[in-house]
Amino acid sequence: MQVYGVNELRKMFLEFFESKGHLKLNSFSLVPHNDNSLLLINSGMAPLKPYFTGQEIPPRNRVTTCQKCIRTGDIENVGKTARHGTFFEMLGNFSFGDYFKHEAIAWSWEFLTEVVGLDPNRLYPSVYENDDEAFEIWNKEIGIAPENIFRFGKKDNFWEHGAGPCGPCSEIYYDRGEKYGCGEPGCTVGCECDRYIEVWNNVFTQFNGDGNGNYTELENKNIDTGMGLERLATVVQDVTSIFDVDTMKAIRDKVCELAHTEYQVDTKKDVSIRKITDHIRSVTFMASDGVIPSNEGRGYVFRRLLRGAARHGRLLGIEGNFMAELAKVVIRESKDGYPELEEKKEYIIKLLNIEEDKFNKTIDQGLNILAEMEKELEKSNKKILAGEDVFKLYDTYGFPIDLTKEILEEKGSTVDEKGFREAMEVQRVTARSARGTTLLCYQRWTSCGFRYYNDQRC
Ligand code: SER
Repeated sequence: MQVYGVNELRKMFLEFFESKGHLKLNSFSLVPHNDNSLLLINSGMAPLKPYFTGQEIPPRNRVTTCQKCIRTGDIENVGKTARHGTFFEMLGNFSFGDYFKHEAIAWSWEFLTEVVGLDPNRLYPSVYENDDEAFEIWNKEIGIAPENIFRFGKKDNFWEHGAGPCGPCSEIYYDRGEKYGCGEPGCTVGCECDRYIEVWNNVFTQFNGDGNGNYTELENKNIDTGMGLERLATVVQDVTSIFDVDTMKAIRDKVCELAHTEYQVDTKKDVSIRKITDHIRSVTFMASDGVIPSNEGRGYVFRRLLRGAARHGRLLGIEGNFMAELAKVVIRESKDGYPELEEKKEYIIKLLNIEEDKFNKTIDQGLNILAEMEKELEKSNKKILAGEDVFKLYDTYGFPIDLTKEILEEKGSTVDEKGFREAMEVQRVTARSARGTTLLCYQRWTSCGFRYYNDQRC
């Protein structure tokens, strides 16, 4: 099989679907537009929701994109396993009331087997348990033997993410061979090990879900497909994980260079290397889309990822700021698909440096204090760090609660989240009442005809 780079695969996919009458659109911003149900865009279809529901008219009823996505649901596993990540690119072809199952299935097969050149004997489709129509298409039109088509339930073969368009799906798995398998007798498509991995998801979008399990049939049947670009590259390049594909390896290598270490020498270090490699991609792309670190919403995700990476840099022995150096590699590797990265390079680097500087001022002290707190916990045989302590780390040393949690969980402890929220509330109320006093004071004096700000006449 010919080996292609991530940038080549992206181009091949988009050109293939352009040749099938699709309009190629640039990736939408990671920041959702007019959609409060999502903090960050998490799939190729998310920014296209209004076209699926019929709220807006699409520029064409066939569209193809490569969408930047961030999913933080599994953030604590990132780095620990080689398959989790927060940032990824999703390739997709979409039909808004135009073609449906027949074409979507045929084209996914054509792209994988004829354009990319994957061995058809290693590909296995799955369908939703009662989707006989999709089963028949795979069997009769594509020629897959019935025993090689898998039927799965809602958990695996029904796609929905929050409220919005959703429906049954048909996925395509690739058998990477025994070397990636668990070796268990029952190991087959659907096994949790790394042998059979899902590369393509054809969603037959025919419902609109309200997020609470209620579905209404959409007037037009749509197609929403998604294929993780890094995942596809893993298969095509026959490498162990997404952290080994060309564009990610370039970042990983830079992390190792800065830390004067090598990958796959020390499993603990590998976790840090992978976490940094993943997180720097997320924050670089978030910065280019205008997300600014803060203590809430998207800004919190940004801060938590950047500070998490900074802490893992410390674990690897990297001193001082290093995120900007890594961001330059991300930009170099991805500017082909995302020219905005190059255009905003200076700004991105500045933003990362400011946030890193801020954290660098307190990180060492914070880590020392946390280490003391951990010792105290151990001494008293406790496993949960008190909310007040977690709050102190947050308020004084800039440790997002999830970062403290992650650090503690590495040693089998955790944080008192409720206690943390209470401590936060106490501070909020105190701050509010302090502001109230100032206001009262100001009003009292103005009623006497003078303008005062606190005790100063102005
Ligand atoms: N929405 C589906 C997914 O994210 C297919 O694009 O997998």
